Amino acid sequence: MNSENLNNLVKEAKNAFRLALNVAELENAKAKFLGKSGALAPYFEKLASLEIGEKKELGKKLNKSKLEIEKLLVGRRQQLKETQIIKELHGEEIDPSLPGRGKGFGGWHPLTTSLKRIEEIFQSMSFRFVDGPEIETDWYNFTALNNPKDHPARSMQDTFYINNFDSDGLKLLLRTHTSPVQVRYASKNEPPIRIISYGKTYRVDSDATHSPMFHQIEGLWIGENVNFGHLKGLYKTFLKHFFETEDLELRFRPSFFPFTEPSAEIDIKFSSGKLQGTWLEVAGAGQVHPSVIRNFGFDPEEIIGFAFGTGLERLTMIRHGITDLRLFYENDLRFLRQF
Ligand code: DAH
Repeated sequence: MNSENLNNLVKEAKNAFRLALNVAELENAKAKFLGKSGALAPYFEKLASLEIGEKKELGKKLNKSKLEIEKLLVGRRQQLKETQIIKELHGEEIDPSLPGRGKGFGGWHPLTTSLKRIEEIFQSMSFRFVDGPEIETDWYNFTALNNPKDHPARSMQDTFYINNFDSDGLKLLLRTHTSPVQVRYASKNEPPIRIISYGKTYRVDSDATHSPMFHQIEGLWIGENVNFGHLKGLYKTFLKHFFETEDLELRFRPSFFPFTEPSAEIDIKFSSGKLQGTWLEVAGAGQVHPSVIRNFGFDPEEIIGFAFGTGLERLTMIRHGITDLRLFYENDLRFLRQF
C-alpha cells in the first residue's frame, strides 16, 4: 500500500472507465474504485492508524489520486453522453449488410385523375375554374338560389348545420352542393360568364352510392343568348371526351330544381361496353331561374343561360365500373393500385 500502488490504481481506473460503453457500465466501474468497498477504501481505513506525519503524507497522495479518478470519471461520463446523443440523432445504427428497401411508387387517386381530365376538357372549351368555401351561409347555399326557408325543396338536400351564425343570425352550414359558387362568382363578375367550380359537398346521407362528403362539378354559362342547345352540345362534347367514346347517347329528362326553370336530369346511354343499353343519370341541369339571375345582380330580360351539376364520384364510378362509392374513401391500396 504505497504511492506507486496508488498511481497504478489511477491507471486502472482510467482503463476501466474507458472500457465502459454506457453510463450503467461506468457506474459499476466507479463503484470498484470510489465505492464503499472500492479499491481506495482500504487506504482511507489505514489513515486512522497512522501517526500524524505519515498520515499527512499519505492523506495528500490519497486525495490527489481520488481527485484524479473523479476527474477521469466525469470526463468519461461526458463523453458517453455525447456519443449517446449523436447515436440518437442518427437514429439506429446502420447495418450496411442489409438489402435495400426499394421505393414504393405513388399514384393519383382515381377521383383526382377524373378531376384533372374534367379540368382539361372544360378549359379547352374556355371555361374558367373557380373555387368557393365549404362552410356556407344560408343565403349562398339556398336563398339566393331561389330556395327560401320553409320551401319544400330544401328537404331534397339534408343539411349539416354548424353552431355558428352568419350576419343575418342564420346558422352556417356545410355546403350541400357547389351551386353557391355560381352566386359568389356571378355577383362579382360581368357576363358572359363561363365557369366550372369543383369541390367537396356534404349531405346527411350514407350508403353504397351516397357518402356524407362527396364532390361536385358545377358549370355555369350565362350571357346574352345562351340556350339549351349550347348546354346539350357542351355536355355531349364533355362526356365523349371524358369517357373517350363516340358511342353514347344523351337524354334530357324533365326534373325540378329551384334554381333552374326549366330543369332537367341528363342521362347517358352507351351503345357498347359493359354498361351498354342502360340509361344512367349523370347530371342535374337547367336554364338559370330569372330570380337567380336577379340575385346575381343582372336583368333576366337581358342575361340568360344554363347551369349544371355533376357528381365527380358518379362519373368516375361509371367510367371504371365501380359499384360502391365508399371504396374511394377507404384508402385500401388493393383498390387504389388498380388505377
Ligand atoms: N345542385 C344540384 C344538386 O346538388 C345539381 C344541379 C342541378 C346543379 C341543376 C345545377 C343545376 O347547377 O342547374 O343536386
